[in-house]
Amino acid sequence: MEKKNIAWEELGFGYISTDYRYVSMYKDGQWDKGALVSDPNVTMNECACVLQYAQTCFEGLKAYTTEDGRIVTFRPDMNAERMESSAAYLEMPVFPKNRFLDAVDQVVAANAAYVPPYGSGATLYVRPYMYGYNAVIGVKPASEYMFRMFVTPVGPYFKGGIKPLTVRISDFDRAAPNGTGHIKAGLNYAMSLHAIVDAHEKGFDENIYLDPATRTTIEETGGANVLFVTKDGKIVTPRSSSILPSITRRSLLYVAKEYLGLQVEERPITLAEVRENMAECGLCGTAAVISPVGKIVDHGNEICLPAGMVEMGPITKKLYDTLTGIQMGRIQAPTGWIREIRV
Ligand code: PLP
Ligand code: COI
Repeated sequence: MEKKNIAWEELGFGYISTDYRYVSMYKDGQWDKGALVSDPNVTMNECACVLQYAQTCFEGLKAYTTEDGRIVTFRPDMNAERMESSAAYLEMPVFPKNRFLDAVDQVVAANAAYVPPYGSGATLYVRPYMYGYNAVIGVKPASEYMFRMFVTPVGPYFKGGIKPLTVRISDFDRAAPNGTGHIKAGLNYAMSLHAIVDAHEKGFDENIYLDPATRTTIEETGGANVLFVTKDGKIVTPRSSSILPSITRRSLLYVAKEYLGLQVEERPITLAEVRENMAECGLCGTAAVISPVGKIVDHGNEICLPAGMVEMGPITKKLYDTLTGIQMGRIQAPTGWIREIRV
């Protein structure tokens, strides 16, 4: 199969329309059998529930070309499961896990010419999503839904690749206590748009949100969980019911413990502790992979991570190399983490 003529090394995190996407419709209480289609556009009623009341959730995962030339996805079963919980919480029907996995296989295989080559630094981002499709004007869930999945080749999420970021502690909240922070609902991202534009205008790369109830502990950023390395070399990540359960973060904790022999802790982390106890910080997620943080600015007070602004800290780097090694087939993966796509 001949690859598309794309400057893979120069890709940022943007949308490029590819040849095929997967669509399935839910109507009269059931999903239709679904199919690959070539039209990237969606037509729907002006009063569709998603347009009026933002009834939509999504996922994000990646396909990789391995060192030996296979195409694989990383833990897509976890995305299927998280989408089940997002859908259930938004009163949407669940798209069955086996069908979700089959759709990933189909879309990636059909767009194999867009999977970036091994070593290019780019990957194929897979975006499953679903939304309330029929017209609804009283506030209630839709009765018809569209599930779609497209792919787009991407480079690094943050400009500048793996140069450490400067992030600020945000005055805006991302999630409410007992709200929707733990699911991947479109509305969580809508509310972050003002905060991210404001952060960029003021020279910051991202916002770190604090816990919405007490505003004392670290939650996560708009599009990634946060991971710290303590001065004595432990991996610590926030535990909270209002953050998205990142598949990357959960995988990294496993890798830290089982592959690198590091101690790991999931618990609340106060800003004061960040100031005193942390040597390295990274933002972790499918899009972000692990993007190192060099500086956290808390209302004018700078917390400079000892690992610095020049490159990734040494332990973050080990985590990054091990995770990406597993994803690209250089390092043996734990059972069930890698799903090969037959092209
Ligand atoms: N947190 C938020 C708010 C996100 O949007 C994402 C991206 O998916 C993550 C965390 C990271 O999750 P994952 O590692 O499953 O991609
Ligand atoms: C992902 O990492 O898949 C996400 O959904 C983050 C998004 C902000 C691009």
